[in-house]
Amino acid sequence: MSTIWLPELTEWRGAKYKGIAEAISRDIQQGRLNPDQKLPTHRALADALGVTTGTVTRAYAEAERRGLVYAVVGSGTFVRGAEAGGREWRFTEEQPEGLIELHLNRPLKTDRADLFARAMRALATHPAQINQLLDYQPDIGVEAHRRAICDWLARDGWRPEAEQVVISNGGQHALLVALMALTRAGDTVLAEALTYPGFTAAARQLKLQVRSVAMDGEGILPESLESVCRQTAPRVLFCTPSLQNPTTATMSPARRKAVLEICRRHELIVIEDEVSVGLAEGLPLPLAAFAPERTLLIGSFSKSLAAGVRVGYLVAPVRLQSRLGAAVRASCWMVSPLMVALVCEWIRDGSAQRLLAAQREEIAARMRIALQRLRNFTLSSQPGGLHLWLQLPEPWREDEFVTAAQARGVMVLGASSFCVGRGAVPHAVRISVSAAGNRQQLVKGLDLLLELLHEGPESMPALL
Ligand SMILES: Cc1ncc(COP(=O)(O)O)c(C=O)c1O
Repeated sequence: MSTIWLPELTEWRGAKYKGIAEAISRDIQQGRLNPDQKLPTHRALADALGVTTGTVTRAYAEAERRGLVYAVVGSGTFVRGAEAGGREWRFTEEQPEGLIELHLNRPLKTDRADLFARAMRALATHPAQINQLLDYQPDIGVEAHRRAICDWLARDGWRPEAEQVVISNGGQHALLVALMALTRAGDTVLAEALTYPGFTAAARQLKLQVRSVAMDGEGILPESLESVCRQTAPRVLFCTPSLQNPTTATMSPARRKAVLEICRRHELIVIEDEVSVGLAEGLPLPLAAFAPERTLLIGSFSKSLAAGVRVGYLVAPVRLQSRLGAAVRASCWMVSPLMVALVCEWIRDGSAQRLLAAQREEIAARMRIALQRLRNFTLSSQPGGLHLWLQLPEPWREDEFVTAAQARGVMVLGASSFCVGRGAVPHAVRISVSAAGNRQQLVKGLDLLLELLHEGPESMPALL
């Protein structure tokens, strides 16, 4: 009996026809559909899926509109090869096939093709505006875009002003721009003892000395900050007060005030990373709200909307605007105004809010699954967070666990990936819930990890 190609639709929540078109796209990218392969007839696919032939006709029309397939009258519908159509790139999978990705904090792979097309069409109906967007713009970004970002960021009790905003190519670039503007080679900068590795990478590029500050369940410990400030006269503190990466620690308002009080006394500028908080609600106000004169808040749309737009921002004291602008010019001249316009159009037409709501719902469901499955172990997590932090039971070591998990087909990140300097490495791993292709993959990955947690490490490592 010959089997026909069937789209995987169990995770799909939208219109069926779009789900089928999306599955065609995904399966082409993953090599499950090959150039010139014939797709099932409308009737055969409709019967197999229990939908009407009209739905399949719409799905194939949608796939044709996206340049994924072509129809030959009298013969059927065929997959378009990249060489034949030239419109669809084939992306190679980043990981070898079969590995379950629980190691990356990435946005969910939702279908945004329609929202993209709609926003671009809306922008294209104003030729004068498009021509402007295709030209050079001020280094810190167009004022209208900076205002739209303020609207997006505003929350109860805090609203930044457009003149405080500098647009960047994503959060990592915002971080680099902040460090370029605030430090000189050889300066000391501080970070939480476990921190986002992109910070350490940027600091290294700029030849900065990174010193670590001890943490507890709420993040930075004020007494440790005080003592490191006395010893090292640092210029900058980098920290993630909410949904800390990797520990998920979130500072209470009282802790925020205590930390800022020390920063004030030691004239320390704070770079506050908010890249991951887009999906969370009900968090305390950012440090930028308590101490706007010394805080540079950085964030991006990577986790909440789309990492590929590479749009991020800094909210900074106005006095630093020209230094930050100079750092943007030196690193990329300006951020592509077209991509910023796309994000602003998504904010204007409500797509951004809808994308965010859909992400929140799915991430919350995935987090519930993970917490349930790992309930017998010591975990930290926060509502809206993309990851959880698992303390490994004795006698597991974090490096051995990461290697053993990979051998079973699951990728996780161990504490050493986040360690600042050569401090003691806690035996813990970060498990991300957003990167798995779907909930089944997440469950499969978690179950493989559970097996390891219960079994413990092999008694004799294969080392000489
Ligand atoms: C804490 C943190 N900061 C910054 C970034 C970089 O953000 P972007 O992808 O927008 O450059 C990330 C990305 O993973 C992150 O987790």
